[in-house]
Amino acid sequence: MCGIVGFIGQEQAAPILLDGLARLEYRGYDSAGVAVVSPRHEIQVKKSKGRLQVLSDMIHGGADVEGCIGIGHTRWATHGAPSDLNSHPHMSEGGKFAVIHNGIIENYVEIKEFLIGQGVTFRSETDTEVVAQLLEFYYNECHDFFESVGRVLRRIEGAYALGILCADCPDRIIAARKDAPLLLGYGEGCSFLASDVTAIIRHTRSVAYMEDGEVAVLTTAGIQVYNALGDPIEKERHHIDWEVSAAEKGGYPHFMLKEIFEQPQALRRAIMPRLRADRVYLEDMKLTAEKIRSFTRIFIVACGSSYHVGVIGKYNLEHLTRRSVEVVLASEFRYADPIVDENSLVIVISQSGETLDTMAALREAKKCGAYILSIVNVVGSSIARESDDVLYTWAGPEIAVATTKAYSTQLAVLDMVGLAFGEVLGTVSEDEYAEVVRELRALPEKMETVLKSCEDIQKYAAQYFNHNSVFFIGRNLDYALGLEGSLKLKEISYIHSEAYASGELKHGTISLIENGTLVIALGTYGALFDKAMSNVVEVKARGAEVLALTTESHRAEMEKTVASVLSVPDTARMLQPSLGVVPLQLFAYYVALQRGCDIDKPRNLAKSVTVE
Ligand code: AGP
Ligand code: GLU
Repeated sequence: MCGIVGFIGQEQAAPILLDGLARLEYRGYDSAGVAVVSPRHEIQVKKSKGRLQVLSDMIHGGADVEGCIGIGHTRWATHGAPSDLNSHPHMSEGGKFAVIHNGIIENYVEIKEFLIGQGVTFRSETDTEVVAQLLEFYYNECHDFFESVGRVLRRIEGAYALGILCADCPDRIIAARKDAPLLLGYGEGCSFLASDVTAIIRHTRSVAYMEDGEVAVLTTAGIQVYNALGDPIEKERHHIDWEVSAAEKGGYPHFMLKEIFEQPQALRRAIMPRLRADRVYLEDMKLTAEKIRSFTRIFIVACGSSYHVGVIGKYNLEHLTRRSVEVVLASEFRYADPIVDENSLVIVISQSGETLDTMAALREAKKCGAYILSIVNVVGSSIARESDDVLYTWAGPEIAVATTKAYSTQLAVLDMVGLAFGEVLGTVSEDEYAEVVRELRALPEKMETVLKSCEDIQKYAAQYFNHNSVFFIGRNLDYALGLEGSLKLKEISYIHSEAYASGELKHGTISLIENGTLVIALGTYGALFDKAMSNVVEVKARGAEVLALTTESHRAEMEKTVASVLSVPDTARMLQPSLGVVPLQLFAYYVALQRGCDIDKPRNLAKSVTVE
């Protein structure tokens, strides 16, 4: 969602803020702005709707805005249309305060009415402006920046990461957080604020993650953090060890393509340290064998692609553990009055570790006494911190909005959880265990083979890119795989697409198949290949154009019925989607490329969805 950057130091702030915002562009936004305190102690605000480049051109790369302390923001509108006026930072009427905000102030209407009653004039339609105006209202009473922030925080409800400037205190930025990501960066004679570490990694690797209720005061001399009671606290600092280049394109035209090609390496990082002498060791997991045996219910809770990992996980975990596993969309879970208790395990999956729906589901489950095991990519993220146990995916920073390498590593880690649980419960055979471990080891290399054959995929993308509606069909794991293939295609190419369990077609959807409808038939699940073929024949008989994906061992068979066939190497049955997803990611990528779409930053989408 929106991006936040703040800087206080000896250098000019605006170029640093613009650079930080550029590194957050991938998160998705509709407008951008900066506020800098001038040497004459005036707050200068520059903001505009549209791409960051518009803002950068407007202020000549920052040269027009003098001052060494400032805040910057990329907005993802929730309240009020994307417009120059609604862009952040928002100023208070008297010009004393500038505020950037990520999240939603839920009681803004009531506060706005109160302030209007006090004679305050509002300029924007945003919920955020009430924070700036309320700050000035309290400041006029108490004349104390920190105290005014405290009063505002006690009055507002909702989710926020806030960066605040006060013209009367040009030596500090105050930051506050509740239910929205915010971190602090420690530099030499300078301090940083950011919603995501990529914004400041060029300047510092020493960071601290703010917790809900905390307030931070950033100065050139350092950062003092206060807890919700207002007591000063020491924050644990984390060292960020990934390279700056990990968040750059490195010669690829898009982050998405780079990340697709990084998958074998990401898988090696996620899998290899957890395999030893042909056994899975989840040493970073605290769960004991006894605790695992005590679970009577297992849930997997996530959103979007992470949910699709969960759908595959349901099939695999039930098979390996013989326990029933429920996979639930996080946004549904929290309001569904779920039957969760102390004997429940809730596996939470999230790349960003900041998805608000997932976070809320986690808290709901925790309240009911469940044990929370999360599978997360971003180290130190909110979901990771609030879970009882975390397994990191170690995929490295993922920048493209459409997830690829995070999905693949989540899947591998979840499969390893299944194996580890199956071993403890005695529900997986030695033979299958050995086969899956062997194939997990071979997975990165097999994926490299798939990546080498991407010309075929480009050819099919060129052939099919102008279809307006696409159906993905498959059975069992292929159905789960289709869900992800379909989401990838729709989010970046804007083609309407749906995934259906093949067997379900005849119960309704087949009425949509007509001459020329594109059907992507997934036939990588060997056990049901013949059944999948019957469904292919069914749609062909109704005039569908079929592009099929199968395994090398079934390719010849598939080619008897379908002309356009892609194949991936054979692997253990439960790992087949890990290879099958790669051609689907590439297909979506090349189709979007043909259609001239903004691949890394698709319309209306954000990388990390921190609003409900
Ligand atoms: C995937 O390509 C999407 N951009 C989206 O569905 C994503 O997977 C979802 O928002 C969940 O995000 P998370 O894994 O960071 O929680
Ligand atoms: N709710 C605020 C707005 O609409 C903040 C949005 C954001 O997080 O970017 O301006």
